[in-house]
Amino acid sequence: MVKLESPVIVLNFKTYSQAVGEKAVEMAKICEEVAAQGIDIVVAPQIPDIYRVASRVNIPVFSQHVDGAGAGSFTGHITAEALRGSGSAGSIINHSERRLNIADIDAAVQKAHESELITILCTNNVNTTAACAALSPDFVAIEPPQLIGSGIPVSKADPGIVTDSVKAVKQISPGVRVLCGAGISKGEDLKAAIELGSEGVLLASGIIKAKDPRAAMQDLIKLI
Ligand code: G3P
Repeated sequence: MVKLESPVIVLNFKTYSQAVGEKAVEMAKICEEVAAQGIDIVVAPQIPDIYRVASRVNIPVFSQHVDGAGAGSFTGHITAEALRGSGSAGSIINHSERRLNIADIDAAVQKAHESELITILCTNNVNTTAACAALSPDFVAIEPPQLIGSGIPVSKADPGIVTDSVKAVKQISPGVRVLCGAGISKGEDLKAAIELGSEGVLLASGIIKAKDPRAAMQDLIKLI
């Protein structure tokens, strides 16, 4: 299992047309270039692009989703075993744009860990953060859905949700690490997120939709 050192930056490609197919490889190569400056950057392309991206870069490639299904008759499910074999080092689970119920989340986390995939469990408030921490993922990522894509960073708009989430996680599962996301795009947003106690950020539009993603990534890491 790859070791992610704080601060961790997770770039979620979502289904943005700027980061699909060969453009996903180009975006991942930009992240690889910036990561060479000594920071752990994870990329999360669409599932069909995982193998293509993982074969062309040396930074961790995560899936945007994994199911709790195992081998057998589970048509259309995404298994942890197949993701591992495609070169995934981990998976985001329960993103607000790909919500699961608690039983499916628990199954997905367990199957992911059986295949040595690192798990980032997304939550939307302090209560769900506390509940998800009890499922022992590697990371919990607090992301208020109303700020996603807004360009208004959670570290500025709602710092309390980050500090309270960190507190809740440390009370329930001290070994679980906390990320935050939504509206993060600049170096000051990342610095603020770290000062609030998180170990890194999840982000998407601020980089993927930037005129110059390389410059946007450089700006993101300039203060750490
Ligand atoms: O997974 C991170 C994502 O939901 C945040 O989106 O566009 O606000 O950076 P964005």
